[in-house]
Amino acid sequence: MAHILHLDSSARTTGSYSRQLTREFVETWLKLTPQDTVTYRDLNTTPLPFIDQQWISAVFNPSTPPTAQEQSALTVSDLLIDELMAADVLVFGVPIYNFSVPASFKAYLDQVIRMGRTARFTSSGPEGLVKGKQAYVITASGSDFSQEPFKSLDHHTPYIKTVLNFIGITDVTFIRHHGYTPEAQQENLAAARKDIETLTREGQLTSV
Ligand SMILES: Cc1cc2nc3c(=O)[nH]c(=O)nc-3n(C[C@H](O)[C@H](O)[C@H](O)COP(=O)(O)O)c2cc1C
Repeated sequence: MAHILHLDSSARTTGSYSRQLTREFVETWLKLTPQDTVTYRDLNTTPLPFIDQQWISAVFNPSTPPTAQEQSALTVSDLLIDELMAADVLVFGVPIYNFSVPASFKAYLDQVIRMGRTARFTSSGPEGLVKGKQAYVITASGSDFSQEPFKSLDHHTPYIKTVLNFIGITDVTFIRHHGYTPEAQQENLAAARKDIETLTREGQLTSV
């Protein structure tokens, strides 16, 4: 039995392609294995706090013993990391905003990328501690960032791959939607749905 963490970050609550596709991904997955379970997190309707002075002090330079303020600064981070660790399959909806990720998703990353909990430094370099996850990142954009001239301007997909790899999530698959016209958007929706059909079936074969 697998547990899914389904997360959306589009600022749109209606008409969002990334939200539509993450929902369809999870629905398709659950049709194949209805016993699997899901935690849902909406980074837009439930925004996260940014990390701050107390957070940084608590992670990198805590008092001994940690002060009450330092401890409480990590409450949200602890909750999000527990949620991440409990999942086997990650389904993240992350649109492209201004060539990168939405601020709500960056705030999430800043809370979960944490020395001592999701990564650590060893004598041979950094080691990610979030092991054994399958990640599916569903992106949405106007332009097609899989090809030039936009590919080399993509600060989204390579960035997400880098940060997830850094904390140990190395099995990362992207499903991309793009388009400016309704025709292109519908055509790419159909292509993304095909990818979802294939990937959910393949994913179940290797899922824990
Ligand atoms: C604030 C903002 C910034 C955007 N920046 C880009 C961009 O840099 N490149 C691009 O191709 N599309 C950009 N778009 C278009 C969105 O990526 C596109 O509408 C996508 O479908 C949004 O995801 P959603 O459908 O899940 O809401 C931007 C949209 C918004 C609202």
